[in-house]
Amino acid sequence: MTPTSLPALEAQVRARPLPRHVAVIMDGNGRWAEARGLPRVAGHREGAESVRAVVRTARRIGLPALTLYAFSLQNWARPADEVGALMALLADFLESERGEMRQNAIRLHAIGDLSRLPEPVRRQLALVMAETRDNGGMILTLALSYGGREELVQAARAAAAAGPVTEASLEAHLWTAGLPELDLLVRTSGERRISNFLLWQAAYAELHFTDVLFPDFRDEAFLSAIADFQGRQRRFGLTGAQLAAQGGPDR
Ligand code: IPE
Ligand code: IPE
Ligand code: MG
Repeated sequence: MTPTSLPALEAQVRARPLPRHVAVIMDGNGRWAEARGLPRVAGHREGAESVRAVVRTARRIGLPALTLYAFSLQNWARPADEVGALMALLADFLESERGEMRQNAIRLHAIGDLSRLPEPVRRQLALVMAETRDNGGMILTLALSYGGREELVQAARAAAAAGPVTEASLEAHLWTAGLPELDLLVRTSGERRISNFLLWQAAYAELHFTDVLFPDFRDEAFLSAIADFQGRQRRFGLTGAQLAAQGGPDR
């Protein structure tokens, strides 16, 4: 079952139903740098290369939606120079990937309390989102200044203001409204926690944890996570026998 090469792994992944929506908690940049005696920002820079690689691969295999946790609301409490470096890298990423997003029909979306982002980042984000809004290839969502509890509080307030709160009305006010159901949630760097990410959306997501630090998370690690997902049986509360009677374990 272990593929011998990256092309074989990719072929294996392409041959089976893909998750509709994959989210990644991109963790371990700091430890990657510290292990090399480098400043933490060097890890963030290398992590940005992993983002490029993962986005490219996700698009190539035809993933409908990819969501990347790039900066949490809690991350604002990090040292100011690290926050500044992350914001600068984000602006660079948006600028350097604009052309590729347009060429590859990627639609950029962002979730989180975007009002807290520095003005140049907000401007750049608005520009690329506007430029790519009609693209139908893949929705790339960046979670920036994002917190799952904070998302739920604002959704609950908005839903209550609009009428009776139901599962559907609350969901319609989440920042992720309109995205496909989250099928797979990946976290890198060996931590086994959610850290306030997509708390509602992860209700039935499959979880994949890898020890790989995000700067090393490239095609092999990403495709392996999807292959892992493809081998799971999702039961959604039913029994294995009920699923078999319905004709298979997929989705
Ligand atoms: C993830 O890497 C990037 C962000 C949270 C912005 P970290 O910076 O958290 O790296 P570690 O966890 O300290 O290694
Ligand atoms: C989660 O990583 C947030 C992002 C990856 C953006 P953290 O490094 O902030 O999470 P904790 O602090 O280990 O829970
Ligand atoms: Mg971390």
